[in-house]
Amino acid sequence: MSPPRYTDYGELPGRLVIVEGIDGSGKSTQLDLLRKWIISQGYCAFFSEWNSSPVVRSTTKMGKDQHLLSPMTFSLIHAADFADRLDRTILPPLRAGAVVLTDRYIFTAFGRDVARGVDPEYVRRVYRFAVKPSAAVYFRVPLDEALKRILTGRPELKYYEAGMDLGLSDDPYESFKLFQGRILEQYEKMVPEFGLHVIDATLPIAEQQRQMRKLVSPLLSGCLRRPVMPYARLTQEHGLSGHYLSGRSEFDAGR
Ligand SMILES: Nc1ncnc2c1ncn2[C@@H]1O[C@H](COP(=O)(O)OP(=O)(O)O)[C@@H](O)[C@H]1O
Ligand SMILES: [Mg+2]
Repeated sequence: MSPPRYTDYGELPGRLVIVEGIDGSGKSTQLDLLRKWIISQGYCAFFSEWNSSPVVRSTTKMGKDQHLLSPMTFSLIHAADFADRLDRTILPPLRAGAVVLTDRYIFTAFGRDVARGVDPEYVRRVYRFAVKPSAAVYFRVPLDEALKRILTGRPELKYYEAGMDLGLSDDPYESFKLFQGRILEQYEKMVPEFGLHVIDATLPIAEQQRQMRKLVSPLLSGCLRRPVMPYARLTQEHGLSGHYLSGRSEFDAGR
């Protein structure tokens, strides 16, 4: 029998929806749209993203800037980051009954760390403190398509982002491609292992969003609802107004 992959935190009335996929697969685009939709449906949505805990931020930055991280310290520092976010930004809203959306989850660690040579079973055991997602979506995209989306304009690639620590190539772009290819292989293995819900990430953005909403919609009933408030205040509170509304007058009108 395979070992347990998650920890049971008891009664969690909220719902956890996570997105995964290689860089450029469209995760952030889809999650942003989903979050706006969930809020528009009157529910509380909380958001947490990979590698964003203030607890280990300065150490992570120093380790990355100075190229000090080995595959194992890289893995453990991200696990610490995730552990802190789980405690402070994921579990509390789940306990309160809210919807929690996370941009990347434990599968990102499994993909990247294993691509760096960390033992797959080891890294799965490290992250066993994670809570099981209500829905785990994997955006499947061919490597070339993701690279085209990400590398147009030749952005600067950071050392670890490009997987330069693996010594696959001296050229950051070449290294990035090889590294992302390895991660993609890991994701494909995780689809059956963890029952990830696959979305074809080459489809138009609107079609993918339709599939996301169809998947998430049945999970929402019973989740914590927001107090009813004017649309303009709601969008402002969530920092959403700037994306769609340009003129102040239009914005002020709803107040
Ligand atoms: N379905 C799609 N078709 C074409 N381009 C897309 C699609 N989804 C997202 N993009 C574009 O690809 C780039 C990467 O998308 P993003 O959501 O940031 O991906 P990720 O968060 O997975 O790295 C962005 O420029 C985005 O506008
Ligand atoms: Mg993103």
